[in-house]
Amino acid sequence: MSLLNSSQNSPRKCRVAVIGAGASGIATAKCLLEDGHEPTVFERSDQVGGVWVFNNSQGRAFSTVHFQHSKYVSVFSDYPMSLESSEFPHHTEVLQYLNEYVDHFEIRKHIKFNTTVEKVVRTNNGWDVTISYTGGQSTFNFDAIAICSGIYNEARYPDFPGQEKFKGMIIHAKDYKEPSIFGGKNVVILGNGPSGVDIAVTASYGANKAIWSYRKNRWLLPRYCERKPFDFIVTRLNKHIPFRHQILSLVHIKKFYPILLDHKACGVKPNVGPEKSGPVFNEDALNRIRLGAIKTKPNIAHFEENRVVFEDGSSEAVDIVVYATGYQVKVPFMDEYLGEDHQKNLNLYKMVFPPELPNCGFIGFVYGNVIFPTSELQARWFSKVISGELQLPSKAVMEEQIKEHRKHQEEGWLDSAYRSLRVSAFDYMDDIAKEINALPKIWENWAILKDIFAGPMLSTQYRINGPNKWEGAVSWIKKVPQLVKK
Ligand SMILES: Cc1cc2nc3c(=O)[nH]c(=O)nc-3n(C[C@H](O)[C@H](O)[C@H](O)COP(=O)(O)OP(=O)(O)OC[C@H]3O[C@@H](n4cnc5c(N)ncnc54)[C@H](O)[C@@H]3O)c2cc1C
Ligand SMILES: NC(=O)c1ccc[n+]([C@@H]2O[C@H](COP(=O)([O-])OP(=O)(O)OC[C@H]3O[C@@H](n4cnc5c(N)ncnc54)[C@H](OP(=O)(O)O)[C@@H]3O)[C@@H](O)[C@H]2O)c1
Repeated sequence: MSLLNSSQNSPRKCRVAVIGAGASGIATAKCLLEDGHEPTVFERSDQVGGVWVFNNSQGRAFSTVHFQHSKYVSVFSDYPMSLESSEFPHHTEVLQYLNEYVDHFEIRKHIKFNTTVEKVVRTNNGWDVTISYTGGQSTFNFDAIAICSGIYNEARYPDFPGQEKFKGMIIHAKDYKEPSIFGGKNVVILGNGPSGVDIAVTASYGANKAIWSYRKNRWLLPRYCERKPFDFIVTRLNKHIPFRHQILSLVHIKKFYPILLDHKACGVKPNVGPEKSGPVFNEDALNRIRLGAIKTKPNIAHFEENRVVFEDGSSEAVDIVVYATGYQVKVPFMDEYLGEDHQKNLNLYKMVFPPELPNCGFIGFVYGNVIFPTSELQARWFSKVISGELQLPSKAVMEEQIKEHRKHQEEGWLDSAYRSLRVSAFDYMDDIAKEINALPKIWENWAILKDIFAGPMLSTQYRINGPNKWEGAVSWIKKVPQLVKK
């Protein structure tokens, strides 16, 4: 799929509709500008930040949310978070960072706020994008579209027998903001993704009873390990050794063993390793279970008027049920192209390009990674493909890759709603970086070889070499370990 025609030597500059101004949309706009494209970002709300906004309808943050991974590995490659911010920033700091990024790279003037994309339609020369805004609707043609509308738009509600006759309150995590609602109540929290873990812990401080129900155990890891962010254990060196998960466990046995024992003592040890189930980072959950402040239960079986009955036959009198059951991927303005079940059928070459739809990229449709740098790499690749500097393989090759990736997902992770959006975090980032020739070149970087191989997987590594390098990359990579030792 080349956009360069044979008489054209310079990269093509495209007018690009970027749909959404969350982390993925602003990173995409920045990368497109860097390559000389003309992005127009459509954002249906009145501000940037997407899920990190606290108090509006697309915001998903609640009062206790902090980054799962440290700020060093979680953010964009050429714009570190301020030294003053916490190592695991609170959602307010994350939102501030995103706004600072937008201002630093002068992206705001390219964003049309309070503008909803209603429909996109393929045309002979690109895409027609229909938008609505207060008092009107218009359609504009673009050369290319970047779908950055996020994967947390539509809450997933389970439907248990008897739910309709339950007299208590049922809310979804998307509507949960702060824990005062739990004061003195008996609360069931369903689900053990990061939302369920966090809400169960918080409820355990104010509720009369905090009952945590979920389908399968997951590893609960602390954000810090021996005073360093846990994610500093995941290095490029580990990535290259055979049997890496086994060897990692042995090398770090002193760190992992107590955690394993804690899971056993609480009766919540998963029967697969963290790499297969996806860990959740929370430092309090195991303690709260051990103290009896959180009672764990299997999945809900059914509801009665004032009680919840669990799959083991036990039941509890309950006032509030929180469904921390995640979200369904929906891209309503593209329904006609994507089939019915987007969650399962979103077939994207390397999680970005739909083989059937030229000049269209999905940015940020990945679950469980450090999303900001992942989206940024996807955007850099997207930008080079639409300019014609890079070409995608044939449709058949792309479809084969998608099939192989599905197989890799099935073998690599336990079945869950999000499995089809899983990638092996840093392998995937390296793979996309390779597409744009932005992998760090060992022979040019002897001075920071140790940091590249044995340091944390900072996305700044992808700005040392390749297109759109960042002058500050090497010094930042050298600096991070000093900051953490402090
Ligand atoms: C509570 C919570 C905590 C998280 N914690 C972490 C974490 O610790 N680390 C991590 O890496 N990731 C985390 N994530 C994942 C998070 O989703 C990503 O970090 C990232 O913010 C996603 O950005 P996005 O731009 O892809 O999507 P979103 O943030 O969802 O942004 C999408 C934007 O598109 C807009 N939009 C949607 N549809 C339209 C339309 N039709 N027209 C116009 N605009 C539209 C929305 O209004 C929104 O602003 C968390 C997610 C949640 C929900
Ligand atoms: N930074 C933070 O600390 C933080 C806090 C909150 C959220 N987040 C992020 O927000 C995103 C969403 O997280 P999330 O926790 O809301 O959702 P999630 O990760 O998708 O977890 C959903 C949970 O609900 C369970 N579930 C789904 N359907 C169910 C059903 N029908 N019956 C019973 N259980 C069901 C799932 O179980 P199975 O696993 O068995 O499918 C899983 O435990 C993720 O990216 C996450 O990282 C981050």
